[in-house]
Amino acid sequence: MVRFSESVSFDHRLALFDIEGSLAHAAMLAKVGLITEEERAAIAGGFAQIQAEIEAGAFHWDVALEDVHMNLEQALRQRVPAAAKLHTARSRNDQVATAMRLFFRSAAETVVSALEGVMRSLLAKAEATQAVAIPGYTHLQRAQPVSMAHHLLAYVEMFGRDRERFQEFRQRANVCPLGSGALAGTTLPIDRAHTARLLGFVDEAGNPRMTRNSLDAVADRDIFLEFASHATLCAVHLSRIAEDLILWASSEFRFVDLPDAFTTGSSLMPQKKNPDSLELIRGKSARVHGSLTTLVTLVKGLPLTYNRDLQEDKPPVFDAFDTLLSCLDVLSGTLDGMQARPEACAAAVADPLLLATDLADYLVNQGVPFRDAHHLVGAAVGLAEKKACPLPELSDADVKAIDARFGDDWRVCFDIPRALAAREMPGMPGPRQVAAEIARWSRDLGSIDAL
Ligand code: ARG
Repeated sequence: MVRFSESVSFDHRLALFDIEGSLAHAAMLAKVGLITEEERAAIAGGFAQIQAEIEAGAFHWDVALEDVHMNLEQALRQRVPAAAKLHTARSRNDQVATAMRLFFRSAAETVVSALEGVMRSLLAKAEATQAVAIPGYTHLQRAQPVSMAHHLLAYVEMFGRDRERFQEFRQRANVCPLGSGALAGTTLPIDRAHTARLLGFVDEAGNPRMTRNSLDAVADRDIFLEFASHATLCAVHLSRIAEDLILWASSEFRFVDLPDAFTTGSSLMPQKKNPDSLELIRGKSARVHGSLTTLVTLVKGLPLTYNRDLQEDKPPVFDAFDTLLSCLDVLSGTLDGMQARPEACAAAVADPLLLATDLADYLVNQGVPFRDAHHLVGAAVGLAEKKACPLPELSDADVKAIDARFGDDWRVCFDIPRALAAREMPGMPGPRQVAAEIARWSRDLGSIDAL
């Protein structure tokens, strides 16, 4: 049972957050007179020693003491008699909720900065590939031309939304549960606002933010689920870009070359360069999703308030966090070393059928209703197929026989730079739009020097 019920093997990583919470709690107890200033100072001194030991890797964690909280309290009791008063007006339930909120606040900041790292890597590649046209795909069939920069910027948008979600999440996590006790608060005259302020659980005006219902404060795990849910969505984005880049690096596409440090060879086939970093990102995204599923399943159906089941809430959160961070870091590195292959991109985008839609737009400009234009270009495409010639090599007579509104200049459409330059409205892949988006994101991420 000792081995079965312990959590210190994984919650020891909360140690510094738990100490931070305890120091604030002790300071509040001293402020309201539940302990003396000398006792508070003794507690702080004891924790300073313990923290130094933990940071030096010299602290001995004992599974018989169950969790990080009991280990720390026991270590403090061995050092200072005042330790026996630390748990006044506090329960492990509000204590663990507090430590986790401190963890989440810091984890959100770490994820945000890793996301910004990926966004900067994407932005640098986008800057370098503004003039590299590639086919955009639907149904994994060549559809219409875009620049590689525009494609990469699509992921900057996704990671930008992830960043926003983690920033909002940090705000929601930034509420102090201390003072909720086991579930029903305390009869002792504590000052919750003081503890909240000391721990930085404050709003923009500096006002303390405290949980408003003691039962909710110890039973609720919304921010755990929210964290895993934002992480899952981010992992979905990671998995999709991994898949795009795996395709791009294949011999079939050859749009990019991946850096050696993030690929491996085959033990058998000497020519192989496998996109392992990206495949692992795609694979590890499944673990993050799994963590969310674990948490949803764990919390659903639990009666209020604390139940020991909730000890199982930490491993999936930690795993989602660690996995997400490593994926973000490795994606950044892979992107930084990735090189576009303009010749292969040019060959892929040279397919004139990518501009069939532009030809329909040309007819619209000649006054043809779009549905008819779509049908007429379809007929021209069919004819070119029958004659086994590229669409622009049909004769003027051929297309005029389909419809007289094909003018003498109908081939102007078959020009990639023209096609992109014709798309300069907001959100489109026109080169000025794309450059403006790169500039906007660069300012946002504080890398203005780029432009
Ligand atoms: N290690 C426990 C957890 O993480 C701490 C809370 C224990 N509370 C209790 N009532 N047994 O959930």
